[in-house]
Amino acid sequence: MNPSPHERSAADFLPEQLSLRNLREAAADCRGCDLYKDATQTVFGEGRARAKVMLVGEQPGDVEDKDGRPFVGPAGKLLRKALQEAGIAERDVYLTNAVKHFKFVWRGKRRIHAKPKRIEVRACTPWLEAEIRQVRPNLVAALGATAAQALMGPSFRLTKQRGQLMSSGIAPRIVATVHPSSILRAPDEETRHEVMASFIHDLKIIAKEMGA
Ligand code: URA
Ligand code: SF4
Repeated sequence: MNPSPHERSAADFLPEQLSLRNLREAAADCRGCDLYKDATQTVFGEGRARAKVMLVGEQPGDVEDKDGRPFVGPAGKLLRKALQEAGIAERDVYLTNAVKHFKFVWRGKRRIHAKPKRIEVRACTPWLEAEIRQVRPNLVAALGATAAQALMGPSFRLTKQRGQLMSSGIAPRIVATVHPSSILRAPDEETRHEVMASFIHDLKIIAKEMGA
């Protein structure tokens, strides 16, 4: 989902010299869409250059927004546990998000996640593309529909294409699975157990493909 040439986007903020460090510094001042206005800070990706797999979430949550790091809140804790169970070492993983600022609505004193609009995802995609170009992972794994659509276009359907090896102009090898927060939202213990098991199943496919 690339912005068209004249559309406002992160493309206007990309550094001249592309390196992960330069990208992170430049992203801190991004005003490519309006989401920077209410959020605390840009939450850029984290991990080694040349990591085997890049995991792409939707956007930082409340904890990530305050901390400045991806996947350090409840969904991140669940993700790290699932990675461990699937035998994926954290040093092989680069963690990032399709959108780099937290979008939320106030409910009382709590900030509740709000789904980013397609135009916001599109505005932020230059950062993700630049991260992929720098890290060059063997596999990009989309966590949830927002990330999958950022990577493969708006017609991607997670229900139909989950767990399949796919490709797009952004990355040659992509697999999509559910977002870890969907497991946190499971209505009861039994369902939660089931959705966690199928998430770990997908992560094992990812473990195999990232080594391929
Ligand atoms: N959910 C995401 O998609 N990304 C994070 O970094 C945290 C929670
Ligand atoms: Fe820039 Fe992305 Fe933040 Fe929008 S969400 S201001 S495009 S970093």
